[in-house]
Amino acid sequence: MHNIKSDFPIFEHLPNLVYLDSTATALKPRVVIEKLTEYYTQYSANIYRGLYRISEKATQEFEAVREHTARFINAKPNEVIFTRNTTEAINLIAYSLGRSIIQEGDEIVTTIMEHHANFVPWQQLAFENGVDLKVVDIDDEGNLQSLDTVITKRTKLLALTAISNVLGTINPIKDIVKKARTLNPEIIIILDAAQAVPHMKLDVIALDCDFIAFSSHKMCGPTGVGVLWGKQELLQQMPPFLFGGEMISEVSLEKTTFQNPPQRFEAGTPAIGEVIAFGAALSYLESIGMDTIRAHERQLTRYALERLDQQFGDDIRVFGPQNEEDRAGIVAFRFRTVHPHDVAQILDQSQVAVRAGHHCAMPLHKRLQVPATTRASFYVYTTEEDIEKFIKALQNVKEVLCTRK
Ligand code: ALA
Repeated sequence: MHNIKSDFPIFEHLPNLVYLDSTATALKPRVVIEKLTEYYTQYSANIYRGLYRISEKATQEFEAVREHTARFINAKPNEVIFTRNTTEAINLIAYSLGRSIIQEGDEIVTTIMEHHANFVPWQQLAFENGVDLKVVDIDDEGNLQSLDTVITKRTKLLALTAISNVLGTINPIKDIVKKARTLNPEIIIILDAAQAVPHMKLDVIALDCDFIAFSSHKMCGPTGVGVLWGKQELLQQMPPFLFGGEMISEVSLEKTTFQNPPQRFEAGTPAIGEVIAFGAALSYLESIGMDTIRAHERQLTRYALERLDQQFGDDIRVFGPQNEEDRAGIVAFRFRTVHPHDVAQILDQSQVAVRAGHHCAMPLHKRLQVPATTRASFYVYTTEEDIEKFIKALQNVKEVLCTRK
């Protein structure tokens, strides 16, 4: 790969920054920032509404990104809904589809490794309707246990993540989907792909889920843009989630009719410039190549796991699969005797940015029997040199805190 860091203006301002928190949000390349500026400086108008040139230009740019997003995941443009983020995309399904199909006696299945965004909406749906929420456990390595005994004919929804934002586990989604559909052909499967779409090629047809949610900001795009992909036949049946402007077909005092998907689910003015700049992020990732990105992260993960083991051995507990083939570029760990927040604060003194806490996955941390972890995560701009600086800064943590009596 070329010198990727030079594509990211933040490194001109902070040349010594070691950014290891891409799982929380990715840095933004110059092309994305420039595209955002282009919209605000050259055709900053609302979309669909204006019968004048700059509004038409904005509409055309916006809709081109819908088509681009569809191509990126092998979908059709009218199956791509823009939301604010993954959380809103999942809530859209829970409120719209979930509340219209869930009935007494049904079950919802999710997993212990979910981010709260793909756990709490289903837990609330289950509470409100008095239905069972069943949770698939993990084994000691952090791999999902079998769904065979969990999914039954009563299971209406299966909501799971493609990649754990803590363990880094890459779930075998194709196999899971196949198995789930054998156990219950009626099941609706929702995939939280927030940690997957930025890091590897994902094909919605091949995966055969019903819904997939992800966010622009984790894939070098702006904040404020999420994507919900859904199968057209399901989207057609779903009532709107938010009501208001641009999602209607006709409004009278007596009643309102709604547009077809995706517009039915996009009430109000969207994040126009941010969606347009998200298109530049997609092009940027494509210019590197999703297979190259995955290979780069695999190599970095192997390197980080080896270096942590060499340098710290049993002083550190690393969570998740020990084989880099089964995990994404996410390494959550704990020093046996230092609080994860203290680790993150000391690393920050060396300009190493990592996240510490429960990473919006409290049930998982409870299962791991730890209140918090420190997490380093990698992306296109991460290098082995960054990992060396991280290891050196961790050595400092060990010297300062582990030797204290
Ligand atoms: N979901 C993001 C994370 O895991 C915010 O850090």
